[in-house]
Amino acid sequence: MLTLTARTTIQELQQGPAALTQVLRSAGLYRDGDDPAITIGQMCWNWGFNPGILLMMLQSANVPTEVPPLDISPFLRMPLPEFVTHIEEVYHAGLRVQLPRLRTLTTEAAALSPGDERLVELRDELAQLAAELDAHLVHEEEALFPMIRGLAAGTLVATRCGSAVGGPIACMENDHATAERALRRLRQLTDDYRAPASAGRLLECLREFDRDLREHMYKENEALFPRALEAQRDARQ
Ligand SMILES: [Fe+2]
Ligand SMILES: [Fe+2]
Repeated sequence: MLTLTARTTIQELQQGPAALTQVLRSAGLYRDGDDPAITIGQMCWNWGFNPGILLMMLQSANVPTEVPPLDISPFLRMPLPEFVTHIEEVYHAGLRVQLPRLRTLTTEAAALSPGDERLVELRDELAQLAAELDAHLVHEEEALFPMIRGLAAGTLVATRCGSAVGGPIACMENDHATAERALRRLRQLTDDYRAPASAGRLLECLREFDRDLREHMYKENEALFPRALEAQRDARQ
C-alpha cells in the first residue's frame, strides 16, 4: 500500500488507487492540467486546507479497489435522473433487504457456535457495516441524489450538505473505502465465503451481498460521481 505523507507528490499519489485522486478532485484541490509535481503539503498550503485532515481522508481511500466484471459504458450515457433512480431501486432497495437478513444469519451462526471467535467477529463486523451503510444510503438519498436530480433539471437544490456536490461526494467516497475494507475483513473471516461449510445459507447471502455492494460502489465511483461533478462544472460555466 502506498505510504502517504505531506511530501508525497500528486504524481506519486496517482500511482495508487484511483480513489486517491478522486478525493482531491471532489475536495476541489486538484484538477486536470494542474502541476502533478506539487506535494500534498504545498497543495494544502496553496488552498489553505489542513494537510492533517486531507491525509486522513486520503488514508481512508488508500484501499486497492477490486474492479467487478461489469460494463460501465451504459451508465456513462444514461440520463442522470434515470441513473440515480436505478441506483435507488436496484442497490439501495436491495441492501435494505440484504442487511437485516445478514444481521439475523450472522447472529444465529455466532449463537450456534459460541466458541468460534471468527463467527463472533463476523457478527460484529457485519452489524457495524450495516449501521454505516444505513446512514450512507440516507445521506445519498436526502442530500446528494436530490442535488444531482436538480443539476440535471437546471435547478439548484439546497440540502443539509449545501448545494455543491463535491462535499457530499468526498464523504461518500470515504464511506465506500470504509466499506471496501469491511468487505475484505468479511472475506478473511470466512476464508473467502467458504467457511464454516455448515453455514451454507449465510455464505451464499454474503457472496451475493459482496458482489452487489462492489457493483453498486463501482457504478457510483466510476460513473455517477464523476458525471455529477462534470454536470456541476458545466452548470457554472
Ligand atoms: Fe448508493
Ligand atoms: Fe454510495
